[in-house]
Amino acid sequence: MKYQEICVEGINQLMDIFYGKIRKDKSGLGEIFNNKIGTGEEEWREHKAKISNFWQGMLLGSGDYSGQPMKAHLELPPFPREFFNTWLELFEESLRQVFEDNIANDILHKARMIADRFQYMLYESGH
Ligand code: HEM
Repeated sequence: MKYQEICVEGINQLMDIFYGKIRKDKSGLGEIFNNKIGTGEEEWREHKAKISNFWQGMLLGSGDYSGQPMKAHLELPPFPREFFNTWLELFEESLRQVFEDNIANDILHKARMIADRFQYMLYESGH
């Protein structure tokens, strides 16, 4: 059964599925994550908890995320812009496994807007 509304359980399930795909990704995207976060279960549990809180804040106005997403991505080793397409594809696939289509579409729209801002900052702003 897919979730018909946004809830913490759904977001946590999304994190498990999405980052499961990321960890296994062989296109180069997975490597960025595995190099930065590590390969251990505990590190990934913490990462997923942090990003779950980020999405809880974005989608439910709850959670306790208080990081600086722009800064975190600026500090990563440079990677090709195309990786954002792969990120979004894996995110969409995961969203559709967890949420009904109308909700998945809303969340995807928000993710695309953030991805656009990150790309502008990383590749166009001359930071
Ligand atoms: C190709 C695209 C992307 C790559 C390679 C990437 C990679 C990463 C990595 C490696 C981290 C961990 C950084 C750390 O622990 O210091 C991270 C953190 C994070 N990412 Fe991304 N990311 C991408 C796109 C996105 C997008 C589109 C979003 C949001 C829609 C997002 C949201 C976040 C957030 C909220 C954090 C936590 C930042 C913090 O407070 O430490 N990322 N990302």
